[in-house]
Amino acid sequence: MCGIIGYTGTSNALPKMMKGLSVLEYRGYDSVGVAAQRGKETEIMKCKGRIGALEEKLRDHPIEGSHCAIGHTRWATHGGPSDENAHPHRAGEVILVHNGIIENYKELRAELADKGVAFLSETDTEVAAALINDCYAVSRDPIKAIRSATARMKGAFAFGILFDGHVGEVYVIRRGSPLILARGADGYYLASDMTALLPFTREYCAMKENEIARLAPDGVRIYLSDQTEVAPDWKTTTMTPESAQKGGYDHFMLKEIHEQPQAVVKSVSPRVGKTGLPDFSSDGIEADFWRGVKSIQIVACGSAMHAGLVGIRLIEDLAKVPTTVHIASEYRYHPPIMPDGTLVVVISQSGETADTLAALRYAKENGVPTLAIVNAVETTIAREADRRIYTYAGPEIAVATTKGYCTQASVLWMIAAAIAHATGRISDEKAREVVQSLLCDVPAAMEQMLSREDRYRKIARGLIDHEHVFYIGRGVDYALSMEAALKLKEISYIHCEAYAAGELKHGTISLIEPGTPVLAISTEKDLFDKTESNIREVRSRGAQVTLICRSDIPVHQETADELISLPVSSDAATVFSALLAIQCIAYETASLLGCDIDRPRNLAKSVTVE
Ligand code: G6P
Repeated sequence: MCGIIGYTGTSNALPKMMKGLSVLEYRGYDSVGVAAQRGKETEIMKCKGRIGALEEKLRDHPIEGSHCAIGHTRWATHGGPSDENAHPHRAGEVILVHNGIIENYKELRAELADKGVAFLSETDTEVAAALINDCYAVSRDPIKAIRSATARMKGAFAFGILFDGHVGEVYVIRRGSPLILARGADGYYLASDMTALLPFTREYCAMKENEIARLAPDGVRIYLSDQTEVAPDWKTTTMTPESAQKGGYDHFMLKEIHEQPQAVVKSVSPRVGKTGLPDFSSDGIEADFWRGVKSIQIVACGSAMHAGLVGIRLIEDLAKVPTTVHIASEYRYHPPIMPDGTLVVVISQSGETADTLAALRYAKENGVPTLAIVNAVETTIAREADRRIYTYAGPEIAVATTKGYCTQASVLWMIAAAIAHATGRISDEKAREVVQSLLCDVPAAMEQMLSREDRYRKIARGLIDHEHVFYIGRGVDYALSMEAALKLKEISYIHCEAYAAGELKHGTISLIEPGTPVLAISTEKDLFDKTESNIREVRSRGAQVTLICRSDIPVHQETADELISLPVSSDAATVFSALLAIQCIAYETASLLGCDIDRPRNLAKSVTVE
């Protein structure tokens, strides 16, 4: 995905662009650029690389005295990262920044090339700019040009557009990609995400699908597809500027790891009724709804899918509802059977992931009820699902998710308890116990785990010289192992495999050599003996073993080289403590290796292409 921003008003636009883009970098950081009006002229400055590269260019060629500008930070899809492919793109009288993907850009490009349009880049965005310019040449009306050009585009987009001769005006449209408008004391803004605008204002208006807006220093006008005008629906966000800053931590990831105990409380407490029982009525979901759920299909990508793998255990164990977990990008190609009573649950921190959105739409087309577990409010997935539960983790800036995943898991735990209670599978007492464990035991246990930095760093030291690492676990610990391996891979670039502990011996054990690091997770008491046997198998082949284990299991000294003991105040406390340990081990490893922890190479926080 990419990040876009824009401003028009009475203040200097460039500092606002740079500040906002630095916040939006989490959405992509292959290249960056701005277009700024100065009187009737518009200057474009763009380059491959991060915001620092653009700052350097601007030091040599400053753009001063601009009060109207658009900016972009890119995660390359069509065309590699290069100066030419960086946004903004100019075509004739149109200058444009884009987040999304124009699926039919090849046909459109060929058609425009036949008309004599020459293209400078390989991007779909330049084609979009050229098409709008083509329509503008006919109508001379920006709104009409945008409307007729976008009517021919397939895919997802949010555009910020400047037209030559329209001084102080920025035009925007969104379909499928997120876009918000905002108003401050000194002008009007657009951005992919409100966090980019928190340094300037907290008053925002979420753009709806296919709406076109015209921003000018004197106000915002929004037009529906039939050209009627609607008044902007201004709201005030509860986010503060601090929530999008590092707050004294070296990295956003570390800050977000530390925010987890509170994030769990924030995601669980709105779902606790007056009597202490699970209650989703504030989300518009009553006990009757849960009673009608006969099976669940969880669909998500990456870490969100891993949260689903924890969820499946809880929902099946507590609520006895058959549950399956699907990788969103695969969901439609092997259409799962959806008998009556099926509920499709999509999970997405960003609410924008294209594969998850496509799966959600597939379920809806098939008439199946859908529920979204989403963090970013008013995003496409949140809006399109029949029902939504927000995780309230607050803005997550680090590309590698921590509190996003953690709150998804806690909401799934509450859903499992809600279904189990609504269907009479668990008593009031047991349901209250689950709620209390999430509200009290989990945050306390996670806090306790946060203070073990030295231990994590010591374990990390044992990983940094290795090319391959293994995580093993059984049951829920296998699901945790998958998330652990993903965390380590994405931020430290060390190859790591997650294995069901019992499966390793069926082939992969051949990769274990003297010194190979193996990290074993054991949060389930009943499964420890078997996991311990698997640890013995790898230890006898020379593996260096770290055991992350419940503290109430007596572990022999010779079982592992390193031991991390987990609090056992409740099952949930143990699982979330293990999660915190694996996140910190990944963080410390990447830190020792000097990796760019918040912006790992090639990744984007959310991927808005399929
Ligand atoms: C990207 C990120 C992952 C994330 C996945 C799903 O691939 O790099 O960290 O888990 O998207 O994101 P979502 O916003 O849908 O939870």
